[in-house]
Amino acid sequence: MSQSPIVIAGASGFVGQHLVQALREQGRGVRCGTRDPDRAARREPDQDWVRLDLEDPGSLNGALRGAEVLVYLVHSLGAGHSDDLLEHEAALAERVRGAAAQAGLRRIVYLGGPAPDGPLSPHLQARRKTGEILRRGPTSTLELRASMIIGYGSESWRICRDLAFRLPIMVAPKWLKSRTQPIGIDDVVTALLGAIDDPMTQSAAFDLPGPETLDAAQILRRIASHAGFRPVMFPVPLLTPRLSSLWLQFVTEADYALARQLVDGFVGDLLCEEPGYWARLPQAERVPFDEAVRRALVQEPPAQGVMGMVEGLARRIGRGA
Ligand SMILES: NC(=O)c1ccc[n+]([C@@H]2O[C@H](COP(=O)([O-])OP(=O)(O)OC[C@H]3O[C@@H](n4cnc5c(N)ncnc54)[C@H](OP(=O)(O)O)[C@@H]3O)[C@@H](O)[C@H]2O)c1
Repeated sequence: MSQSPIVIAGASGFVGQHLVQALREQGRGVRCGTRDPDRAARREPDQDWVRLDLEDPGSLNGALRGAEVLVYLVHSLGAGHSDDLLEHEAALAERVRGAAAQAGLRRIVYLGGPAPDGPLSPHLQARRKTGEILRRGPTSTLELRASMIIGYGSESWRICRDLAFRLPIMVAPKWLKSRTQPIGIDDVVTALLGAIDDPMTQSAAFDLPGPETLDAAQILRRIASHAGFRPVMFPVPLLTPRLSSLWLQFVTEADYALARQLVDGFVGDLLCEEPGYWARLPQAERVPFDEAVRRALVQEPPAQGVMGMVEGLARRIGRGA
């Protein structure tokens, strides 16, 4: 196994932290990219932090020097690019493609979002475009397309978890019928590790489906069952995406831009093709949805303050409903 480091762009993020830990357990050399190495080192002093800001080509070239693989785990949600997300993410991807070629990397692994045929939200369009640009370059690029990742620290998981735990009775907008295949963070890490070492020499995009297809209402019910109740849902077909997002922001701790992108993403089903990348990892057994939820819940600290009280009350009402 080569000793050249694997560079993780977005190492301080939710997926990045899990991947870095898994690579370190394998004894691999990891260079952890962040825009703010001092802040990151205060939180995780044992890691090899390097400044890597995709907006700053010099830092990108420096971070990739002498490396073998880049894992691209950066998105621009909530970074003030709601009006030019596609152009902004495309420009970053072109920069990364050029820098990877210049550094002579063996592989780029990019974790994006689902890209089924049909209308896509601006966020998912930007994710798909990023993959297309990276795959057009000379560096072998494997793009993995996942929908919601279940795990403590994932913002999309956080939104679903907060809704499910705080609303024993809820209005159910039309988008709750959209179906998707949520996937546990442990499975995502398995797939990323596979993609880093995958012997394929060309570039390709693969779906990364979770083990079950569920609509958003089923997802909320299954999560709420871990709190011991089943939410009652009243259909309201006319709730607009804007109102839905404001409502999400009110109930959850998600930021508005993220909540809006999540709701906008649910314009229809967000389904992956089976078996997707799992065909290249035949030994891997996907973690069942409820087990992934259980693992996410045991990692979170107990809810405190007002939200702790809200969740306690929701549990009492829900169990009585
Ligand atoms: N979470 C999910 O449910 C989910 C689902 C499907 C796909 N994905 C994909 O998985 C990847 C990782 O998602 P995540 O949930 O781990 O995101 P996250 O927790 O928000 O982390 C993203 C990281 O990107 C870094 N970053 C942001 N702007 C940057 C820039 N200009 N230059 C360099 N780094 C920058 C940030 O690090 P610093 O602030 O330290 O610089 C941050 O830690 C993304 O590509 C996302 O599309 C996530």
